[in-house]
Amino acid sequence: MDQNPSPHVLPAACDFTVFGGTGDLALRKLLPALYHRDLEGQLPADYRILGVSRSDLDDAGWRAEVRDALGLHVDAADLYDGAVDRFLARLFHLNLDAEVPEDWDRFHALLKDRPHPEEAVRVFYLAVAPKLFGSICQRLDEIGVVDEHARVVLEKPIGHDLESAREVNDAVGRVFQESQIFRIDHYLGKESVQNLLVTRFANTFLEPLWNSRWVDHVEITVSETVGVGGRGEYYDNAGALRDMVQNHLLQLLCLVAMEPPTYVGRETVRDEKVKVLQALRPMGPSEVDHDTVRGRYDAGLVDGVAVPSYADDLGHGGSRTETFVALKTEVQNWRWAGVPFYLRTGKRMDRRASEIVVVFKEPPHSMFPGAEGTTAPNRLHILVQPDEGMRLHLTAKEPGPGGYRLRPVSLDLSYATAFDARLPDAYERLLMDVIKGNPTLFMRRDEVEAAWTWTEPILRRWTATRERPKRYPAGTTGPIAAAMLLERDGRTWQEPDQ
Ligand code: BG6
Repeated sequence: MDQNPSPHVLPAACDFTVFGGTGDLALRKLLPALYHRDLEGQLPADYRILGVSRSDLDDAGWRAEVRDALGLHVDAADLYDGAVDRFLARLFHLNLDAEVPEDWDRFHALLKDRPHPEEAVRVFYLAVAPKLFGSICQRLDEIGVVDEHARVVLEKPIGHDLESAREVNDAVGRVFQESQIFRIDHYLGKESVQNLLVTRFANTFLEPLWNSRWVDHVEITVSETVGVGGRGEYYDNAGALRDMVQNHLLQLLCLVAMEPPTYVGRETVRDEKVKVLQALRPMGPSEVDHDTVRGRYDAGLVDGVAVPSYADDLGHGGSRTETFVALKTEVQNWRWAGVPFYLRTGKRMDRRASEIVVVFKEPPHSMFPGAEGTTAPNRLHILVQPDEGMRLHLTAKEPGPGGYRLRPVSLDLSYATAFDARLPDAYERLLMDVIKGNPTLFMRRDEVEAAWTWTEPILRRWTATRERPKRYPAGTTGPIAAAMLLERDGRTWQEPDQ
């Protein structure tokens, strides 16, 4: 139980090391996020960002790369010469080959080369292949830079199944305490996802309805228009279930389904989320056959542009990897028993849109005999991206004399207009939480392992049946079988702008 609900404090000094400092994640997400926080004056007064990579770059070379990356990934309106120069001056690069002990000695020397090195919070962000997590942590331990203030950040995937996830967790856990390990799921840093917690728990009107008595079903969709791009090698070994469902979609499901914690604190939210994962209906072979659909994109048109098939993106056609998953599950507890949760995600779909839709039951009795018009069940759409907000669909009377004409209408909340502020990228919030030592929005070991425990039988069954994923043309909503998954239950997917 979390004994410390007090706010987390910003340390006076911090060395933020990014392993994989010249990689895509660092340049596209991490450094722009840190730049934004610096711009707001939120980073520790005495901070350095140390980029570690195998690139043969000195500080000036890395700073030039980061300057270009900021130009690409930060809004021009937020790029001020003075601020960029000040930020870049905090950056240092170390060319390190993990196999060369002298390189680690140089890293050690770099960390010590500052006033009061023992007082600085050290963050080690591992934006590298997961197979390196264990060995990097071991080296950090050997060179003596892991003290009680140190933190390690792990990017997904944490393993590719339960056993390998345990191996990663064991290897990292030999060096860092669980409280020092930050397993990042960037969906938890999205404004709209955090707002889901606030909507549920800082208001009263939803709670009485948030259960099997009033909710008909829940849909969670994460639809992307991008293909696998340059990540084919990673992706073809992963597939949509491992890449998106095991982490992002299950995390969203947890936030929708969890019980109210006593307060939002470092362990309380994670305690509740893990209970949801443990309550998911286990997927035996017949459930997998009946309740999951895997798909794979063919060539097609996305936003009017012709795009190649997955096999062409990959350069070969042999694999059975899925780029789309739809499935049905249930949270088997008092609150949710009997309520289907439908999840779907895919690449090269018709639009980029992530949404959670809670569909409520029909009124128990029709009160308007002879009413004209159409009605639809009440629905709460939680718009995760691209336009964060919320939309509540109601039935209203169309104005006019005579009888009742009923019509669906919606109450719309757009965060961009309601708050008139830039919505920060998910990494901005999460990196600040790491620096301040707040793990609430990060995945604990038991969560990751519970998510694998549930996911693994699906992977096993798919491998055993050797069935190929169903094809869908790029630019569509996925294979027909995904629509059938709901239609056979008398339901249809709520498409994002409905
Ligand atoms: C990543 C996946 O975790 O999330 C990618 O590996 C996916 O395949 C990405 O494209 C989606 O993130 P976002 O924030 O763009 O929805």
